[in-house]
Amino acid sequence: MSAAKISVAKKAIDYIEKKLSIETVLGIGTGSTVNYFIKELDAYKNLFRGAVSSSEASSQLLREKNIEVFSLNDVNQIDFYIDGADEVSPNNFLIKGGGGAHTREKIVAAAAQEFICIVDKTKMVDKLGAFPLPVEVIPEARSSVARKIVALGGKPIYRENFITDQGNHIIDVEEIDISEPEALEILLNNIPGVVDNGIFAFNKPEVVLVSD
Ligand code: A5P
Repeated sequence: MSAAKISVAKKAIDYIEKKLSIETVLGIGTGSTVNYFIKELDAYKNLFRGAVSSSEASSQLLREKNIEVFSLNDVNQIDFYIDGADEVSPNNFLIKGGGGAHTREKIVAAAAQEFICIVDKTKMVDKLGAFPLPVEVIPEARSSVARKIVALGGKPIYRENFITDQGNHIIDVEEIDISEPEALEILLNNIPGVVDNGIFAFNKPEVVLVSD
């Protein structure tokens, strides 16, 4: 598995390398595939300006490589956003948030000119939903959100001993129908107390790179 993740991390480097300039700001996702990408990026760090990160974990890795980390509030443009996924559908809709970072991931993805998703081929699915759908919730709203999810046909499972970078909780939703990803993304985000859910339909990647 790590060989596949390393190979797709290298594909992402090949994809962006010729397009880097000293003005380029990269958006950096979260997870084990991105961790390999950050390792590969080390050799190219003088070719771009710096990065906006989607999590404290990725920020730490970037700083260890002496890659400057900017707040999203302090940059005008993100040229490329590079991130993994938990599932990728045939039309590039995603499930993300296995690492609980999908809220900031979606914010940075939405701010980027081009989202490049990097996955090993096990993440490619015919239909989204075998992977439990992560939903970030305000802690006080956890039970009320869970009841609404049950009413929508889902099975909510509280992710124990996990707090997001924003100080919130995660509900992983099993058995919910994701045949209409755009509609479900909106529906879930309209439940009071939901911060964001892990469907990336409106912010899907322009490019999906898959391991060999
Ligand atoms: C983090 O919250 C997720 O969205 C990750 O991008 C996703 O879980 C992929 O992670 P791996 O690269 O570790 O499989």
